[in-house]
Amino acid sequence: MSSSIILGVETSCDESAIALVENGRKIVSSLVESQISIHETYGGVVPEIASRYHVKAITDLVEKTFQASDVKPEQLSAIACTQGPGLTGTLLVGLNTAKALSYAWNLPLYGVNHLYAHVASCFLESDLEPPFLALLVSGGHTELYIFESYDSFKLIGSSLDDACGEAFDKIARILGLKYPGGPGLEKLACGGDLNYIKFPIAKINDFNFSFSGLKTNVFRYCQKNPDFDKSSVAACAQYAIVDALWEKTLLAIKTFKADKLVVCGGVSANEFLRQKFKQGLKIPVYYPNLKYCTDNAAMIASAAYFKPKAIGYDAKVFSRSGLDV
Ligand code: KG4
Ligand code: ZN
Repeated sequence: MSSSIILGVETSCDESAIALVENGRKIVSSLVESQISIHETYGGVVPEIASRYHVKAITDLVEKTFQASDVKPEQLSAIACTQGPGLTGTLLVGLNTAKALSYAWNLPLYGVNHLYAHVASCFLESDLEPPFLALLVSGGHTELYIFESYDSFKLIGSSLDDACGEAFDKIARILGLKYPGGPGLEKLACGGDLNYIKFPIAKINDFNFSFSGLKTNVFRYCQKNPDFDKSSVAACAQYAIVDALWEKTLLAIKTFKADKLVVCGGVSANEFLRQKFKQGLKIPVYYPNLKYCTDNAAMIASAAYFKPKAIGYDAKVFSRSGLDV
């Protein structure tokens, strides 16, 4: 099989990223410039500021990504960029960068769905192949998919309100932690008592999730009990989120007789979640390498290799959810 090197571009939110990936699995080089320190002050991502910082960062990143490898533009087989879902302004920066590179180097341009790309992060440096069940847990989405093949998959469940990463972020904020709250909350929870309080989680039908009630419960508890133990509240809230993910995933594994599970997206970096799934399941569980759980461009290049889709410059570019952007 001839070798294919794809250059990936990711700008869907607050990470500018460029990567070179060979045959969908081998990371040749991958750079990410995060804007977290800029948005921290505001407690969340400010779209206009994010777009401006992507403009500032992206050209240098392309140059540095090539410098970090032996690859020359003439060795590339395609350019790929995130087509959506994401922030409209930030997506446009990546799309226009990718368009310019594809025009200048006369290469095909592929549009990639960001959610598919999170799943593809588990193909990087791994031998994972479909079929499998995928649990995608990020800042914007909580979804369960059945992957029959690389380009045939079915959404079987999703969050009806907040995504689980959003629940981590909002609860972390109640506890006075910085944005994004997931990593901070996980750290704080380490010394906490899991028997401190039981936060109920909404019981939703089928394979769907709901996290907005949990955030309200935590808020009310903290208001009523001003002397609460932060670390224990963090531990109990984290337990409630992970337990909800666990219950629905287990149900999906049994219902669809899945024999492999993929857990991906920013929240899959959470060690408490990883341990719970590892200890509780007999089937193999695939996670991205910690570096590739949160947004990066290697997963974009990998996704374009396994599900190449020539870009269509149409309104669907701005579609906000669903794998078939
Ligand atoms: O996948 P991602 O980088 O961006 C989206 O596509 O949304 O995910 C970001 C989310 C944030 O909500 C962040 O708090 C959460 O992933 N996150 C974590 C951890 N690391 C990142 N949540 C829990 N524990 C972590 N260790
Ligand atoms: Zn993401």
